Amino acid sequence: MGVWRVIYDGFDPDTERLREALCTLGNGYFATRGAAPEATADDVHYPGTYIAGCYDRLSSPLAGRTVVNEDLVNAPNWLPLTFRAEGGEWFDVRASGYRQELDLRHGLLTRRLRYGDAAGRITSVDQERLVSMDDPHLAALRTTIRAENWSGALEIRSGLDGRVRNSGVARYRGLADVHLLVGSTGADEDLIWLDAETVTSAVRIAEAARTTVAAGGAIRRETRDGPGWIAQHLTVDLRRDEPVTVEKVVALHTSRDRATGGPLEAARLGAERAPCFAALRDRHGLAWEHLWRRAHLDVGRPGAQRTINLHLFHLLQTLSPHTVGLDVGVPARGLHGEAYRGHVFWDELFVLPFLSLRFPDVVRSLLLYRWHRLPAARRAACEAGHTGAMYPWQSGSDGRDETPRMHFNPRSERWLPDDSRLQRHVGLAIAYNVWQYYQATGDLDFLSSYGAEMLIEIARFWADLASLDTSSGRYDIRGVMGPDEYHDAYPGSAAPGLDNNAYTNVMAAWTLCRALDVLALLPSGRRAELLEHLGLRPEEITRLEDVSRRLRVVFHADGIISQFEGYENLAEFDWGGYRAEYGDIRRLDRILEAEGDTTNRYKASKQADVLMLFYLLSADQLTALFDRLGYGLDRAAIPKTIEYYLARTSHGSTLSAIVHAWVLARSDRAASWRFFLQALDSDLHDVHGGTTAEGIHLGAMAGTLDLAQRCYTGLELHGDVLHLNPRLPPGIPGLGVELRYRGHWGIRLHADHRGIRIGLRRSAQPPIRIAVNGGPATTLPAGRTVWFAGPGEVEEIG
Ligand code: BGC
Repeated sequence: MGVWRVIYDGFDPDTERLREALCTLGNGYFATRGAAPEATADDVHYPGTYIAGCYDRLSSPLAGRTVVNEDLVNAPNWLPLTFRAEGGEWFDVRASGYRQELDLRHGLLTRRLRYGDAAGRITSVDQERLVSMDDPHLAALRTTIRAENWSGALEIRSGLDGRVRNSGVARYRGLADVHLLVGSTGADEDLIWLDAETVTSAVRIAEAARTTVAAGGAIRRETRDGPGWIAQHLTVDLRRDEPVTVEKVVALHTSRDRATGGPLEAARLGAERAPCFAALRDRHGLAWEHLWRRAHLDVGRPGAQRTINLHLFHLLQTLSPHTVGLDVGVPARGLHGEAYRGHVFWDELFVLPFLSLRFPDVVRSLLLYRWHRLPAARRAACEAGHTGAMYPWQSGSDGRDETPRMHFNPRSERWLPDDSRLQRHVGLAIAYNVWQYYQATGDLDFLSSYGAEMLIEIARFWADLASLDTSSGRYDIRGVMGPDEYHDAYPGSAAPGLDNNAYTNVMAAWTLCRALDVLALLPSGRRAELLEHLGLRPEEITRLEDVSRRLRVVFHADGIISQFEGYENLAEFDWGGYRAEYGDIRRLDRILEAEGDTTNRYKASKQADVLMLFYLLSADQLTALFDRLGYGLDRAAIPKTIEYYLARTSHGSTLSAIVHAWVLARSDRAASWRFFLQALDSDLHDVHGGTTAEGIHLGAMAGTLDLAQRCYTGLELHGDVLHLNPRLPPGIPGLGVELRYRGHWGIRLHADHRGIRIGLRRSAQPPIRIAVNGGPATTLPAGRTVWFAGPGEVEEIG
């Protein structure tokens, strides 16, 4: 199978939707699930095409009120293509021998099948599909049909279907799901087109398809249409053993595109002018080759490597160089399905640090998505009675809070209030990413023009939200939620929210420090401008400083950092009993709610919360931060804290395994490796029971890449030095990574269990400073390669 292929044999209706999600093809502009071209949405299949940033908002009645939801729109289906022997029934995938292969290296999805119809005619089909990584508006499907034991007329139907809905997630059924109004359809020779518009956001989406058949004899072509769809029927004479090839080349444009004379014209021209499938495939292959070079990540073990490649593949299909300038964020479930409605959460915290060292231009664009929504975040802060910027927990088109007010528990079949919007910590993730991007690139221009403003406004919000408790001299942050979604309120309390969530308070202190750093870093002219623009008075800067030193962190009696104030008083949970009764208890919140109980009562977490601190900050950084806050952080307390929360976490989020693999990487390498493998399995084997079919978990996918790239190499960026301190898990013999850093294209790292080799490709860029294994920083000029075995043991080898 190799490290570049995912192969499925046989058709399995039960896992078809999972395959569709995992076989999605995309290019950062749009993506299409790996659904069978002959299928329409039913209980087995779910064709879906999603265009980055194309949202629409609809209202629905729910439990006596009106709820409004914004969805990433399922665009018209461009795939439809099927065939039949004249007079026979249309091809049915269920009646066929079947093999499907996803070729990660070349970005191709192929199907090979043999189909026997009721009249005993056996036909074999080879089908190849791509969504162009070269031209982000093009996709193509090539189908070769061979009659094995018959000759006669073959009828092929190739269509565009705008009658799609957003009905891919069972939990959302019953809510409004028709986001498209098809305006017109048309045909001209071998071209058909369809022009649609989203219901409330009025985004026009146009698709055009050119269908051609390479066959010896005459081709009869007939166009048919109906409300919301159009198709061409092509009839050719098929001779036994003489294959016929059908090519469908599709162009997709929206009114959000630049440099077009309108979406319909752009789509028509695009499909008309596009080259043939082979030429498209060549260009597409070249674009992928370039991406793979830049994404090079080698873990030296075939099983893990294949999944690493799959994760890279889906990450780059969601966020690619074509994403740059699209005004889109990081959708938590990729462009692969409709779970979480295509919304943007804090998951970019697990995605951007990896990309900052590979595709910094893409990261800049994704951060600009947040910058453009700064006015909305300011408005939200202001409406909540605060200054600064309060970014929403779920974000979509315009930056307002898209978090649903209610969520559905499929176990109890009850709609319940959803208070997850209180996860104000999303802003801290944005601040962290701004800083990481700056460290990786040294892009002072971005920092001055955009990054600083976001960092300062986020910091300002936290400084304002914090309230001084004069009796203790500490600042409190009350009424929020941490990353652990099992706790949204105190037991028995009518009001949602918790006080002094440790992750929130410590990262708020960190953000305040970075905002102060940034103010010091800015060129004086820009600093003065920004202060005036923001109306940031000297006393507010003093407040930022003061709060950064006096935020409260609550500890348990034994020195463990408390997840939030009062956590220590919660009941211990009966993990053994519930595991024995339910088996899979990852969604304990749903289990307990169905029992009339609540996770709020227990010391039980859905995912890492306190431990996120050890994930984001090194022990040195954290110790310094706690010192600044006036708390000594005993280093010996770190493993105790990890053990404490690990024993109380159900890993109900795919992000949890990433964080645990990371925080255990130094103290328990075998356990870290187990969590890493678990994270690799999450989507490929749908570990979270059916969720991947509704979209991949992009944060977890990228998180595994970042684990290899930053955690196992011990890579940290601070003080203008690239720090490396490799500690490989036992499961991998070596780790090869190629980074972009501060203008250098290609810092090649290869770590094994003995040391690390670092080579800088030739360039005109100035030397970089590196420090390995805690040794002193040394200077590495372009074109040189060095080998480090231990602290200070440097050997120049090229
Ligand atoms: C997790 C969140 C995450 C969201 C989107 C939830 O299940 O608890 O941390 O942001 O999924 O991926």
